[in-house]
Amino acid sequence: MKQLAISERLRRLLVPTTRVAVLTGAGVSAESGVPTFRGAEGLWSKFRPEELANFDAFMANPRLVLEWYNYRRELMSTVQPNPGHKTLARWETYFQEFALVTQNVDGLHRKAGSTKVFELHGNIQKNKCAKCNRPAEWPAIFDPENLPTCECGGLLRPDVVWFGELLPVQMIEQAWSKAETCELFFSLGTSAVVQPAASLPLVAKRGGAYVVEINPEDTPLSGMCDEVFRGPTGEILPRIAEYFPHE
Ligand code: OAD
Repeated sequence: MKQLAISERLRRLLVPTTRVAVLTGAGVSAESGVPTFRGAEGLWSKFRPEELANFDAFMANPRLVLEWYNYRRELMSTVQPNPGHKTLARWETYFQEFALVTQNVDGLHRKAGSTKVFELHGNIQKNKCAKCNRPAEWPAIFDPENLPTCECGGLLRPDVVWFGELLPVQMIEQAWSKAETCELFFSLGTSAVVQPAASLPLVAKRGGAYVVEINPEDTPLSGMCDEVFRGPTGEILPRIAEYFPHE
């Protein structure tokens, strides 16, 4: 296959000493078979987030919400990282300073070998108490007839961030700082509409970083990017990595 055309500026930045930060969204896992949220085939075109991804909805109808998470957990337990995840895992060791920030809760970056991942929206495989916030190892699948509870009596819920909830403060501060100080920023497979994650590329740009987007579709971010690749991350990322001296 012909080598991907990239700018001279990007090529020069693909050296180990460049400080790199990456934001990923659902599109990065699309080629693994995980559905995205928006768009004609997205989850939010078939399901209502206000009934399923919201604390009040959980308290009103925990069975419905936990059945929704059972469905997603079962789906995600069968999927495997794709070449996009694997390329990013290699970048962690290639670049001396590399920050991977994800909105995804599927755990595929870790499964691909990334060890330092800022999971801004949590991790669907983990649980916590809805009352005292204590983490809970079990269950992997919720029993809708026998809802699991914490020692404090609170209901257990998946450890993900729902609409209207705050992101873990320390994590977003660290992600912000990585975006502010990086020299090269990648926005990958995200519609770039959910805050505060959607601000990270703008923070990077304001800090002087070269901002690259990879997405088959136009996003509100595309216009301010320095370079845009219109295609799937599972194909484009390995082709960008071909420009690394050792790849
Ligand atoms: P979206 O579903 O909003 O956007 C997915 C993006 O991926 C779209 O811009 C697609 O064009 C793009 N895409 C699709 N296939 C792709 C591929 N193979 N390679 C690259 N890009 C591809 O997902 P997010 O932006 O991640 O929040 O959504 C952000 C948040 O909204 C999610 O974390 C979730 C959701 O509500 C919470 O659950 C809190």
